[in-house]
Amino acid sequence: MADTLKIAPSILSADFSRLGEEVKAIDAAGCDYVHIDVMDGHFVPNLTFGPPVIKCIRPHTKKVFDVHLMINPAQPSLKEYADAGADIITVHAEADADIKKSLAMIRSFGKKAGLSVKPGTSEAVIEGVIDLVDLVLVMTVEPGFGGQSFMADQVEKIRSLRAMIGDRPIDLEVDGGISTETIKTVVDAGANVLVAGSAVFKGDDYAATIGALRQAAG
Ligand code: DX5
Ligand code: ZN
Repeated sequence: MADTLKIAPSILSADFSRLGEEVKAIDAAGCDYVHIDVMDGHFVPNLTFGPPVIKCIRPHTKKVFDVHLMINPAQPSLKEYADAGADIITVHAEADADIKKSLAMIRSFGKKAGLSVKPGTSEAVIEGVIDLVDLVLVMTVEPGFGGQSFMADQVEKIRSLRAMIGDRPIDLEVDGGISTETIKTVVDAGANVLVAGSAVFKGDDYAATIGALRQAAG
């Protein structure tokens, strides 16, 4: 698994006053995806940024833009995120009523479609749409804020989703509380894309932190 491991720093913990430079810095530091947390102050109790900011940082890197939409409804603005430069667009299973339509819309824009589950949501919601997704995102904190503690009780969900995915070419991403202490547990359970916000941005040497995360993943 380690050779296919992808590290996705979340710019939620970056310095927003220097977002373009921060994106360049994590690119140079060897990240795989750039994880972009979009929050609406309604689906989650925090507000971040939307398509205009994503469009502004797009020219700063060629890395995959992994856009995590914590907004409800998401469907009306999916095209705006696609046009802003997202490569993967992930919606929450708890948001729009017609998940199948949201996923089909994302793919119709030529983008990869992701589906995320909050800690209290069963993996069963993924089962009926597994062939409509390119990525499944398991939240290991309650969405809304960086720097929270990893919820170990979500590890079984990761394991069961890896079994459900089987040999389909679907990324299994884990988001929340990932550090050198927690990364091995989720990789062993089957995750291959690891979001790390505070773990990466709290230090000055992003390359060293990303390297340490890869090493700790085993
Ligand atoms: C939380 C966000 C996460 C967050 C992770 O709602 O989806 O991506 O930035 O931050 P850390 O890695 O600090 O838990
Ligand atoms: Zn996220």
